[in-house]
Amino acid sequence: MPILEVKNLKKKFDKNQILKGISFDLEEGQAISIIGSSGSGKTTLLRCLNFLETADEGTITVRGEQLFDGKNPVTDPDLLRKMRLHFGLVFQQFNLFPQYTALENVTLAPLINAEANEKAGIIENAKDLLDQMGLSDRMDNYPHQLSGGQQQRVAIARALALKPDILCFDEPTSALDPELTGEVLRVIRNLAEKNTTMIIVTHEMAFARDVADKAIFMDDGAILEMGPADELINNPKEERTRQFLSGVIK
Ligand SMILES: Nc1ncnc2c1ncn2[C@@H]1O[C@H](COP(=O)(O)OP(=O)(O)OP(=O)(O)O)[C@@H](O)[C@H]1O
Ligand SMILES: [Mg+2]
Repeated sequence: MPILEVKNLKKKFDKNQILKGISFDLEEGQAISIIGSSGSGKTTLLRCLNFLETADEGTITVRGEQLFDGKNPVTDPDLLRKMRLHFGLVFQQFNLFPQYTALENVTLAPLINAEANEKAGIIENAKDLLDQMGLSDRMDNYPHQLSGGQQQRVAIARALALKPDILCFDEPTSALDPELTGEVLRVIRNLAEKNTTMIIVTHEMAFARDVADKAIFMDDGAILEMGPADELINNPKEERTRQFLSGVIK
């Protein structure tokens, strides 16, 4: 059974049909990359999957449990919060809390509902995650004391601290100077090697090909082509995918 099954997801903003029926599966331990031109609906798709937007139609099922059905969407805030815990989201603009240290940014959410006897474990886990991100000497720094690449690695640790079933990235390196891109891509590659289940929206085509098992090319709100990542990016079947790739690869 796939860890995630998305069926016929549709979303309109005003009169504009932004998602036109998106369906795909993701297996546990695999990564899927999503590529496509600006405005094709990639961020909207991730936001619907994280329940930050409510899709109009379609279903989202995680580990066999249907979390979302457009016919009868959940509106209860407590239930929504629980549903969101299945997904982690790392944004383009890190979105760290400026008034908290790196360590506090990572522990904040898990500590909110923790019992007293769980607190030490949560802090240990956060330190371990920051260590995995190569930030063991930066735990007490505030976001403004960190480079963009370091901030993004804190944001990744923060997302992992809630132990999501599926970790989603929305162009995690597009806000970074080119020399800081590599360090963030490296930690995501490490996560892939440890079989972290991920959905990665990216404009870095070589990365999309190498890090993911499967790739999706989105065009105008629909999946135009989907397949093994290396095949889709090295040898796309659709003319439109070829055009897109020839535009972005130098
Ligand atoms: N909250 C909103 N209200 C109205 N229109 C929106 C909203 N969010 C997104 N859109 C529109 O939906 C379309 C898809 O946007 P989206 O951000 O999903 O594209 P994208 O593929 O992520 O693009 P990019 O590569 O530039 O990030 C765009 O035309 C955008 O203007
Ligand atoms: Mg986007």
